[in-house]
Amino acid sequence: MAISAQSIDWTSKVREIVADHNGRPEALLDILHDIQGELNYLPPEAMRRVALEMGLPLSKVYGVATFYSMYSTKPRGKYVVRICESAPCHVMGAREVIAALEENAGAKVGETSPDGLFTLEFTSCLGVCGVAPAVMVNDQVHGNLTPESAAAVLDEYRSRERGE
Ligand code: FES
Repeated sequence: MAISAQSIDWTSKVREIVADHNGRPEALLDILHDIQGELNYLPPEAMRRVALEMGLPLSKVYGVATFYSMYSTKPRGKYVVRICESAPCHVMGAREVIAALEENAGAKVGETSPDGLFTLEFTSCLGVCGVAPAVMVNDQVHGNLTPESAAAVLDEYRSRERGE
């Protein structure tokens, strides 16, 4: 069964993650990062718990969660495919790679695939221009992409999910 925001005990999960960072207010970004690792997004209940646990105003937690593009307050797929749209990747053929990713995922950039596996997002330079065009799937960089190899990357994650 897929894990959902409702199936997680956010009180103890958030308490545990905040304690790992000694509850330091300056660790808020890392704390949100770790919490986001659970479901690839930050559900409202989790943010409410962070505010309570750290004694911060909820508006501050929301402010941080919505300011940085690495966080999402909307549900996302298990794999977030961050597609570089900066110039060097563009010049090296990102447009065709994006079309192949969209076709393979069955979703446009900004959407999640119907099977809930992939969310496609644009990002600025990933810092790996030497292997442009590049994408990042969760924490993993994939570079020197062609439309064919980009589609193969998604296929690879899909087969992993099926335990192949
Ligand atoms: Fe795409 Fe730098 S421009 S990784």
